[in-house]
Amino acid sequence: MQGMLTRLTHLGNVAPSLSRAVHSGTRTASYVASQAKRAARQLTSEEVYAREDRYGAHNYHPLPVALERGEGIYMWDVEGRRYYDFLSAYSAVNQGHCHPKIIAALNAQASKLTLTSRAFYNDMLGAYEEYITNLFGYDKVLPMNTGVEGGETACKLARKWAYTVKGVPKYQAKIIFAEGNFWGRTMAAISSSTDPSSYDGFGPFMPGFELVPYNDLSALEKALQDPNVAAFMVEPIQGEAGVMVPDPGYLTKVRELCTKHNVLFIADEVQTGLARTGRRLAVDHEAVRPDLVVLGKALSGGVYPVSAVLCDDEVMLTIKPGEHGSTFGGNPLACSVAMAALQVLEEEKLAENAEKMGQILRSELNKLPKEIVTTVRGKGLLNAIVIKETKDYDAWRVCLRLRDNGLLAKPTHGDIIRLAPPLVINEDEVPAWFSLASPVETHAGRRPIPRLLTAVLMNGAQQWR
Ligand SMILES: Cc1ncc(COP(=O)(O)O)c(C=O)c1O
Repeated sequence: MQGMLTRLTHLGNVAPSLSRAVHSGTRTASYVASQAKRAARQLTSEEVYAREDRYGAHNYHPLPVALERGEGIYMWDVEGRRYYDFLSAYSAVNQGHCHPKIIAALNAQASKLTLTSRAFYNDMLGAYEEYITNLFGYDKVLPMNTGVEGGETACKLARKWAYTVKGVPKYQAKIIFAEGNFWGRTMAAISSSTDPSSYDGFGPFMPGFELVPYNDLSALEKALQDPNVAAFMVEPIQGEAGVMVPDPGYLTKVRELCTKHNVLFIADEVQTGLARTGRRLAVDHEAVRPDLVVLGKALSGGVYPVSAVLCDDEVMLTIKPGEHGSTFGGNPLACSVAMAALQVLEEEKLAENAEKMGQILRSELNKLPKEIVTTVRGKGLLNAIVIKETKDYDAWRVCLRLRDNGLLAKPTHGDIIRLAPPLVINEDEVPAWFSLASPVETHAGRRPIPRLLTAVLMNGAQQWR
């Protein structure tokens, strides 16, 4: 709320010159020249906020920080201030910002061949398909672009399989989801959502979707009695819901129940996958093999939208030529970037690193006073803290203060702050999150903070006003 007020104030300061542009139907040469001049000079953070507010849809509520550069675990704003990135673009930047190997693959392929469409073969797609299917141990992969397209593809495969293999009567197939799920913003994705901010006002919704509570095996077992159920799609840890970690054994039992009832187990690993939770896939914590795995985000190291569905022939080959696809899915640039991104995860042993650093992070977080941080949870480097709100502070204001002290994190669902740095963070840097030795420059006029998170959270209560 405070952020919104700040942004409106910014707009008041900067918008007049911008607003003229909107109301004139045509652009004069001098107007275009002045805009070009303006674009050429470095904008301040305030101007960056105001411009986005003025010209962009208001479908996000960003933390006020205007970034222009990233490298490894750091990002810099337009005024040159450096921040630890503790969001990693919602786990897309697992390999760290602008990883040199991924950027080199991008550059090399971009100057050679970027897009052929799937009307023709290209020399990169098969190489990528062979690499990723061998790495994850599935017969085939279907390449798409965004995470939500990966989820849509998995649902379409499940329905096709239900009709052509399982024998569900045509158009009677059901897919079960867990309450609190998040898999994107398309009509199908919001039709399975239990979050009003996702679905409210966007109906009518997709039929054939049902919900069970997350982490509730008896509810799942009951739902699976219906012979028309094609699939259960679930996140191994619910990221957007606030890093909700299910009980140990949940995924193992989900696997057993799906097998018993001839239902496909779809693991949405878009956020949890690719080393984030300390394993290559989060399901690897329980050595479980889903029938379909959906990947996205870090599949490109945050460089390019790349997603994928992995499964075996029995499911994948139910979709025939012409029945599904995407102009950009499987393009040579995406394939080259994704292969490099996966190689980085393996070569740099980022799953092992995430496991180790996650333990250090949680043990430090657990030292924070329980009357302020009521819960610490997560696996690997996908973690969250729950902030006890008071009239003086809440998760949003804690994030503003963290920002002021050089650390970027974002609240999810009000009182929860996700802490998910790039997985390339190393042991030398971890204590810096908490110590005076922090290499992050504190902002002008601010005294150095002895223990960054601790100080912000503990001393915060007295300092909010
Ligand atoms: C688990 C999960 N699945 C799917 C998605 C959708 O990915 P995208 O935003 O790339 O469509 C997200 C995005 O946050 C996610 O967290």
